[in-house]
Amino acid sequence: MSEASGDKPVVAVVGATGAVGEVLLGILEKRNFPVADLRPLASERSAGSTVTFAGREYEVKVAEPSAFDGVDFVFFAATGSLSKDLAPEAAKRGAVAIDKSSTWRMDPDVPLVVPEINPEALRRHKGIVACPNCTTIGFVMALEPLRRAAGLQRVVVTTMQAVSGAGRPGLDELSGQVASIAAGQPPVVKQFAAQIAENVVPLCENFREDGYSTEEVKLLHETRKILAMPELAVTMTCTRVPVPIGHSASVLVETDRPLSPEEARKALADFPGVEVVDDPKSGVFPTPADVAGRDEVLVGRVRKDLGSDGLWFWQVSDNLRKGAATNAVQIAETLLAPRG
Ligand SMILES: NC(=O)c1ccc[n+]([C@@H]2O[C@H](COP(=O)([O-])OP(=O)(O)OC[C@H]3O[C@@H](n4cnc5c(N)ncnc54)[C@H](OP(=O)(O)O)[C@@H]3O)[C@@H](O)[C@H]2O)c1
Repeated sequence: MSEASGDKPVVAVVGATGAVGEVLLGILEKRNFPVADLRPLASERSAGSTVTFAGREYEVKVAEPSAFDGVDFVFFAATGSLSKDLAPEAAKRGAVAIDKSSTWRMDPDVPLVVPEINPEALRRHKGIVACPNCTTIGFVMALEPLRRAAGLQRVVVTTMQAVSGAGRPGLDELSGQVASIAAGQPPVVKQFAAQIAENVVPLCENFREDGYSTEEVKLLHETRKILAMPELAVTMTCTRVPVPIGHSASVLVETDRPLSPEEARKALADFPGVEVVDDPKSGVFPTPADVAGRDEVLVGRVRKDLGSDGLWFWQVSDNLRKGAATNAVQIAETLLAPRG
């Protein structure tokens, strides 16, 4: 801990005014994360505005290297290019940078961590720790218990990703298009590859030459890195849906040893941070609306594949919480916890 802070960390949040930053402040407060002092940071646009944390107002300042002097943890929830420039500056000053952008995730010197799955990776951090993509986190949280129960062979996934995955501009685009359509005006398309209101867009981010999207390839490589299974066969389609908060995924998993739905439900229910919401007889299944505002990953629709020994399931998680802010705060909590 820095000298000025005693035994509590000084915390900076880069992007404190954004969708993830706002949720992150709420989670630090809710989880009673020990904060000696808070430095909310953003761009010139928001400098001078205030955020409220633990009943106190803090002025937002511009994110620049000197803002990290005397800071212990810097949560980066802004842009990838800012993380690229400023995370090393935070690390140079003795802070741990916990980054939500994609910039550092595949760097071999940077651990990519979901604390329930690979907390041991934190032991080799050199001042920067990466948080996985909001889609990857919910996905691996559901895969890991099945891997521990029966090993993984092959996974096929289709995601249905909420507009808040693109931050405040994504939320604004959905509500703006809904209003335009209601007023009989053509919807303005800026954030997504096509109109998102009243639609499903089968492309998140950009196409690559091989026909996959950049988002899909992130999901593949991040999953392999977190699970330490560099050869794991994962194939995926990522889509954007007109849902405000909560990413969903429909997943087919083939395991080394065939798992019954009952065994899979038990393995999932026993895993920290996962809740099984699955009772077909009573029509019970999890939806993004159920998970918005919650930290757990919800899993349902567990059933045998009709053509193989594999299992299908449906998984939802709050992309702003476990998909971003909660996971970042859990990383800081793990770093603070005394080592056993
Ligand atoms: N949304 C999700 O579900 C999600 C999930 C996982 C990871 N992430 C990642 O988390 C990060 C933040 O995403 P978000 O959804 O919260 O985006 P957002 O709502 O658009 O917020 C962006 C934040 O970054 C700040 N910012 C932008 N440019 C800046 C600059 N040049 N200097 C300083 N601050 C700057 C903004 O400050 P101003 O108020 O000054 O503009 C704002 O606070 C991104 O890297 C994103 O990829 C997002």
